[in-house]
Amino acid sequence: MARATVAIVLAAGAGERLGAGEPKAFVTLGSRTILEIAAANADACDQIASLVVAVPAGTEGQARRMLSALSKPVAVVAGGASRQESVRLALAVVPADTESVAVHDAARCLASPALFSRVIRAADLADGAIPILPVSDTVKRIEDGMVAATVPREDLALAQTPQVFRADSLRDVHIRGAAEGLSFTDDAAMFEWAGLRVATVVGEQTNFKITSRADVLRAAAALGGGFDG
Ligand code: CTP
Ligand code: MG
Repeated sequence: MARATVAIVLAAGAGERLGAGEPKAFVTLGSRTILEIAAANADACDQIASLVVAVPAGTEGQARRMLSALSKPVAVVAGGASRQESVRLALAVVPADTESVAVHDAARCLASPALFSRVIRAADLADGAIPILPVSDTVKRIEDGMVAATVPREDLALAQTPQVFRADSLRDVHIRGAAEGLSFTDDAAMFEWAGLRVATVVGEQTNFKITSRADVLRAAAALGGGFDG
């Protein structure tokens, strides 16, 4: 890759479903916060040159102190009201000559440096790349509370982050998406909407998104070398 990859780490959510009384990314697993763990894993990936971290407005100083031990440059910005807006605000401080951007949810703090590397490499073959996991449960379509059909799961997958995209394309879809007032749950969805090509790599079972109290316990167990469901 000729020029660098910048990691955007999204930590600006409120964590309402977890209900910890503080932003989810500031919750501690063992001795480190979810944000520290997520950022350290991105920092440890050789292809990543620098990080941009989005945090709730007013917590920038706290986040900067938390991230002071990283080996690579880190910019901390205030995030927005939605995940998509947080990406847009973080993109504004990504250096202009950046080749690709890895957009990552701090809530998926166990994504390994090796996963970042694999997704970055796969993104070179398309406009972007994402980690996915196959769906192992049988999937039903429900109508009015009744089972309407069984959906073939062979074509289905669960999307994870980090999601890596050509920086110019990512900027472009965010500008166009916002101009049209559209909201998307991840960045790959914006690429699909724009007709761009997104490659896939196999994700990691441990790279689940921390949403609830049970997920916090599972992540803490995984970090402690305990049983990881
Ligand atoms: N995120 C963000 N800015 C927002 C909303 C979410 O940066 N305005 C980030 C979160 O910090 C998280 C990731 O996007 O790392 C995925 O969001 P989610 O898991 O929904 O986290 P929260 O929005 O914090 O949780 P909840 O929806 O329960 O409030
Ligand atoms: Mg949310």
